[in-house]
Amino acid sequence: GRRLLTQSKRCVSSFDTVGVAGLGLMGHGIAQVAAQSNLHSSVIAFEAEQQFLDKGRARIESSVSTLVAKGKLEQDAADKLLSNITYTTNPDDLQNVDFLVEAVIENMDLKKSLYSTLGSTCKPETIFASNTSSLSITDMAEISGRPEKFVGVHFFNPVQIMKLVEVIHTKYTDPAVFDQAYKWVEDIGKVSVTCGDTPGFIVNRLLVPSLMQAMLMLDRGDATVRDIDLSLKLGAGHPMGPLHLADYIGLDTCYYIVQGWVEKYPDEPAFVIPDCLKKMIDEGNLGRKSGQGFYHWNGEKRGDPA
Ligand code: 3HC
Repeated sequence: GRRLLTQSKRCVSSFDTVGVAGLGLMGHGIAQVAAQSNLHSSVIAFEAEQQFLDKGRARIESSVSTLVAKGKLEQDAADKLLSNITYTTNPDDLQNVDFLVEAVIENMDLKKSLYSTLGSTCKPETIFASNTSSLSITDMAEISGRPEKFVGVHFFNPVQIMKLVEVIHTKYTDPAVFDQAYKWVEDIGKVSVTCGDTPGFIVNRLLVPSLMQAMLMLDRGDATVRDIDLSLKLGAGHPMGPLHLADYIGLDTCYYIVQGWVEKYPDEPAFVIPDCLKKMIDEGNLGRKSGQGFYHWNGEKRGDPA
């Protein structure tokens, strides 16, 4: 009995159809891991604009090719994975999905408008899951018209590689819905942890303030980019130093996270916006995605400090 159970857990996803809204840095990876061929799930990947849809698709194809080239994915499984994903710019194509993961940019107005539309177009059974890093799941659940079917599923970048997903419940979440979301995360091969709907959940509440502290060291002129990053890499065993990681996450994303917190929790001393971060955003230097941040970037490859 036990063997069969394990087998069925590996082979059948909790959901037949998974929608992913937003195919950026996080969303493309989520669509990719949701479409793994052994799960028999079909994935509907949505972006409102064709150019961003095409970009998301190209990212998925490139990541899948990397995995095949490294022998981590069989060609057959890769072909099946890619054929499991349907791409669309029409939000109505999401109306029959069983599970909808939203990964659009960290802007509450945009998210609320999306949830108020999808709340009325999606079938009543559809479970909504936001990949927000830092916004209130409760606020979005209230707008969706289905607060008991609303959770957070927070992935980490790069989604294809990072094993953790935080699964967040609110005071409204139906425990059976939470269990389904938690099980799905394990179905796709990730490790789930859970936490209440608090700013930054577990990882970002600890990680983001540490990135801000590294930037404040730069503002004060205490140390250089090279020395700050090398210190946490070689002195604390982190895979990337904090400024390298901020560039990798996207300086705009880091900024949106902290700006939202500063507005909502002005008395929390860990939430601050360093001058150097604000300056780089104003100059359009967003890290890896724009080619410059604390470092120069050549595509995916990091160069010298800027
Ligand atoms: N698709 C497929 N494969 C990928 C990939 C992708 N998108 N990205 C990386 N890989 C593969 C590489 O090809 C490589 O494969 P190999 O081991 O067979 O050679 C492997 O992953 C490791 O990559 P690299 O060799 O390029 O480099 P590293 O060994 O330094 O690993 C890293 C890269 C996994 C990103 C590592 O540096 C790391 O763990 N960094 C910290 C990442 C982190 O902290 N992420 C969380 C950010 S916070 C967040 O996301 C929350 C948000 O809300 C802000």
